[in-house]
Amino acid sequence: MKATIAVLPGDGIGPEVTSQAVAVLEKVAGLSGHSFSFNEAMMGGIAIDMMGDSAPPETIRTCEQSDAILLGAVGGPKWSDPTASVRPEQGLLRVRKHFDLFANLRPVKSYPALAHHAPLRPDLLEGVDMLFVRELTGGIYFGPRQEQGDGDSAYDTELYSVPEVSRVAHVAFRAAQGRRKKLASVDKANVMASMRLWRRSVMQVHEDYQDVELEHVLVDACAMYLMTRPASFDVLLAGNMFGDILSDEASVLAGSLGMLPSASLGSGTFGLYEPIHGSAPDIAGQGKANPTATILSAALLLRYSLGLEAEARMVERAVEVALESGARTADIVRRGESYISTTEFTQTVLGALSA
Ligand code: IPM
Ligand code: MN
Repeated sequence: MKATIAVLPGDGIGPEVTSQAVAVLEKVAGLSGHSFSFNEAMMGGIAIDMMGDSAPPETIRTCEQSDAILLGAVGGPKWSDPTASVRPEQGLLRVRKHFDLFANLRPVKSYPALAHHAPLRPDLLEGVDMLFVRELTGGIYFGPRQEQGDGDSAYDTELYSVPEVSRVAHVAFRAAQGRRKKLASVDKANVMASMRLWRRSVMQVHEDYQDVELEHVLVDACAMYLMTRPASFDVLLAGNMFGDILSDEASVLAGSLGMLPSASLGSGTFGLYEPIHGSAPDIAGQGKANPTATILSAALLLRYSLGLEAEARMVERAVEVALESGARTADIVRRGESYISTTEFTQTVLGALSA
């Protein structure tokens, strides 16, 4: 098949990790007889520096002309002045909103090869395999706000409507049906009106999915359960902000934030694929970044936007094989242990792909 992929490397380690994922996609294309073309565009802080806009119209157009977007990361200290009027993160939020990518899928699993690296007891990590479905275009990220305030106060508003919650709930229930048929919906219904609406909407959608077991978990308790009984979760459904926070927490289960991919989808096959980690300016340009999250995001791109399930699995398996063979980037070794560079790690994955 032929596909066009927009590549938005972004800031910090973004360019280092997207180039590795592109190398993997090129390898897959060669092995499976597909033809992928990659169109690079500017996004984030670098786009602010070059064109004064974190997601310039040219970038949006490049994305519109593509089947999917592969993104690195945006942001960095250079652009984090709290009084700045343009921020790298705004561009990313605008792209998510522009393409109505309301469902953010974040799979989290523990890798046996890394179980001894994670700070949790290995027995707690056994069988950890969950999927976060994070609502991505609503909630407090997009609610009414006073951006600068009057200098003395500022506010953001958590606002959800029944249709907004329902559509992402459908995605979560359908995902659960294809997995272990369990859904945990995360909310704060004991305190927030928006979260009582959330719970009511999810219960309503549940009527269409009676084969899925639904539990409602308060977000604070959920934060604890992720550490005390992570293997009990199958699909977790959360609003924009709770999903953001809990998925970073859950990355501890996978061994590192550098391991977690994500897919942001709307109602069609078009999607945005990005690692859940940030631009990590502290390690940028040192070859220390773990490309796994972006490589696994490319696997999700193959699966969800291009419908290439076998190729997606091939990439996921190659990452596992690389880890099993002992390949480790800096973030997944203990202090003092040796590690290989970003590109060396990718070479190991490419080797596993051809084998
Ligand atoms: C993420 C990131 C973004 C978010 C930032 C960079 C806007 O943390 O994708 O998880 O909060 O959604
Ligand atoms: Mn985040």
